[in-house]
Amino acid sequence: MEMDRRTFDTFRKLIYDKSGITLGEGKEALVSARVGKRLRALGYDNYKDYLQFLTGDSEESESEFIEFLDVISTNVTSFFRENDHFVFMADYVKRMLSEGRDKVRIWCAASSSGEEPYTLAMTFLENATHFHGDCKILATDISTKILKMARAGRYPEAKMQGVSPQLRSKYFTHEGAGANKVYTVSDTLANMITFKRLNLSKPPFPMKGPFDLIFCRNVMIYFDNIVRKKLMDEFSRLLRPGGYLMVGHSESMAGMLCDMDTVQPSVYVKG
Ligand SMILES: C[S@@+](CC[C@H](N)C(=O)[O-])C[C@H]1O[C@@H](n2cnc3c(N)ncnc32)[C@H](O)[C@@H]1O
Repeated sequence: MEMDRRTFDTFRKLIYDKSGITLGEGKEALVSARVGKRLRALGYDNYKDYLQFLTGDSEESESEFIEFLDVISTNVTSFFRENDHFVFMADYVKRMLSEGRDKVRIWCAASSSGEEPYTLAMTFLENATHFHGDCKILATDISTKILKMARAGRYPEAKMQGVSPQLRSKYFTHEGAGANKVYTVSDTLANMITFKRLNLSKPPFPMKGPFDLIFCRNVMIYFDNIVRKKLMDEFSRLLRPGGYLMVGHSESMAGMLCDMDTVQPSVYVKG
């Protein structure tokens, strides 16, 4: 079903208002293909009726909005994605603990299906031998559907590529065999993480902080500079002085750093 310009603009505005995600010009084909999927799944034969349902304030409309956002944005993620950030983190954890810190707070914003916060937990534990303090990881995402998957912490063999055999046996149990093998995160990892829904485009957030580390990777790419700047100000409020912010490798925050400095591309420190 073809989408005319006005309908596209209505969807585009709705997506921006609700999630901060900016759909650039020339995305009509992508939007109409993806929205078309939802229309067919729900049995609508025109965009107008679907839009009316989507913008309603029933619980069904709200949960459809999550499905809708899921088809528009991408949840792609993986264990140890952009690994240099975890090498950096390993170093920082050792440094923090050698200074006697016994309370560590980490926020994984846009945690998708959980691979990233579980990687954070493994990286912390692997570098925090003899730590008897308290390390908590907050993992947030806008999608309740993806958060449910993240909480379940179950990953097929194909998703486990980045996890070494040693880490698999230490932090996961598994069932099945070969390509059907499914890994489940251990309680040790699960107990460190709290998953919560949070819309990054609507600061200020209810957390007080301060966080030692914030990972906000591969989501700001969907936002425009207005949303990014607000988010950067909020990260700055929530970071401890000396704490670090990691963003995706293809996301530059130059020009909106507020009281943060660049340590290396995609790693910033709060001054
Ligand atoms: C491409 S994934 C990135 C996952 C992970 N951070 C990584 O780098 O592997 C983007 C995630 O951002 C989430 N997202 C999109 N818009 C959001 C918003 N406004 N607030 C919070 N999360 C959002 C999506 O649901 C998705 O899970």
